[in-house]
Parts: sequence; C-alpha cells; structure tokens
Amino acid sequence: MVRRPLIAGNWKMNGLKADAVALAKGIAGRCLPQPPPVDLLVCPPAILIDPVAQALAGSPVAVGGQDCHTQSSGAHTGDIAAAMLRDLGASHVILGHSERRTDHGETDALVREKAVAAHQAGLVAIICIGETEAERDAGQALAVVGKQFEGSLPPGATAENTVIAYEPVWAIGTGRTPTLAEVAEVHGAIRALAGKQLGAAAQRLRILYGGSMKPSNARELLALADVDGGLIGGASLKVEDFMAIALSSNG
Ligand code: 13P
Repeated sequence: MVRRPLIAGNWKMNGLKADAVALAKGIAGRCLPQPPPVDLLVCPPAILIDPVAQALAGSPVAVGGQDCHTQSSGAHTGDIAAAMLRDLGASHVILGHSERRTDHGETDALVREKAVAAHQAGLVAIICIGETEAERDAGQALAVVGKQFEGSLPPGATAENTVIAYEPVWAIGTGRTPTLAEVAEVHGAIRALAGKQLGAAAQRLRILYGGSMKPSNARELLALADVDGGLIGGASLKVEDFMAIALSSNG
C-alpha cells in the first residue's frame, strides 16, 4: 500500500481537561497490545494539547492543533504560533477548516500562509477544503474544491508535510454524506490536481474524507481508492466509535 491511512479526530471546541485526558487514555489503551494498522491522530483544543500529549506518551497516537497563526511570534493577542504547538508535542495542525473559514473569514491565501508557517515549525499541515450545499446543487463542487486546493496549497508542499481533507460543508455534523461515487469523483480530481503540483509524489499524498464519518459508513468510504483516511468530528469524541472507524480501514 503506497499510502498508510490516517485516522484523525478533530475534537473541535469540546471537552474540559479531565474529559480530554480520559478520551486520550481510552484511545491509547485501545492500541494495546496491537495498534490498528493506520496512523492515529487526535486534535484537541490548543489549550489541552499538553495534557493530551502527556496522556498519549509512549502510545502510537499523535497529537495535533486545530489552527495556527501565520507568524512565528509577535503582537497577536489570543493567537497561537505553529512552534508553540510543536513545543507541546504536536506533529500536525488542521488548517482552513470550514468552521474557521466561516467563523473567522479565513481565505485560501491565509490558509496557504498558515501552511507555510506550519511547515517552517516542522508540523504536517492538514488542509481542509470542501463545497457548500448550494455550490454542489449548482454543479460547482469540483470547481470550488479545485480552486480551494490550488489556492491553499503552499509552496514547498510535499506528500510528507501536507495532508488534504475533503470535507463537504453540508456533510459536517449533519449525519449526511455524499454518495460514494461523489466522494470518489472529488478525491480523484484532487489527486489529479495534486499531480500537477507534486508530480509523481501525488501518489503518496494522503487525501482524507471528513463529514459525518461514523462506524456505520467508515468501511465503504475508506475502501475508496483515493480515500486515505478520515477527519472525524463528532464520532472522534467517543473511544469506541473512533477506534471502530480506525479498525474499518484495511490499512
Ligand atoms: P463531523 O464528523 O462531526 O461531521 O465533523 C467533521 C469535521 O468537521 C472534521 O473536521
């Protein structure tokens, strides 16, 4: 298998310290004696990365942030630099999630700058792209996703320092998912576009699906040729559901 699947939990703005530590320990415990044949990642709120990283020490589960600033330090009240995430033990950072694009007006250009900052700090950037329902209904899904991909991918991106997450906005937290054919079409289109930028290395780029992935639909989604894992919201907050999804992947 060219691409080892990545099963990533985006905890969003959920949980207090004790909840986060319990969840992390639950996931780490389920990796014994034999971890699932995938890469596992959890992305807690930034303020909980430290205790979660400590809870996961010695386990194969990696930790990531949910956002970072474009600058490495300075007068940016309330913001967090990529190096700070790295310092606490994070190896990845989610960038350009649709909730940040909506809540904070993040543009492709900003996401690209953040990805540059993430790479400079040694983090893998998980760049999120996806169309709204209106855009899909208007037949614009591929065009929108393609534009976001090209606008958000930073110079210097490689298959090793970058992961793409296709998350249709209308599938996030709704219980609805695109058809398998629709997911396959978008993922195939993203890989084709990646080929233009990365050449043959596009075959090693991991493209995750996100949006209402759960134990009951994970197997069929993860079996699609160009789906290399999942970015999971709600179902990542339950040990059993998250691990069931991880075990749905053939690795
Ligand atoms: P849900 O799995 O809750 O739909 O969220 C998906 C998501 O936004 C992951 O980043």
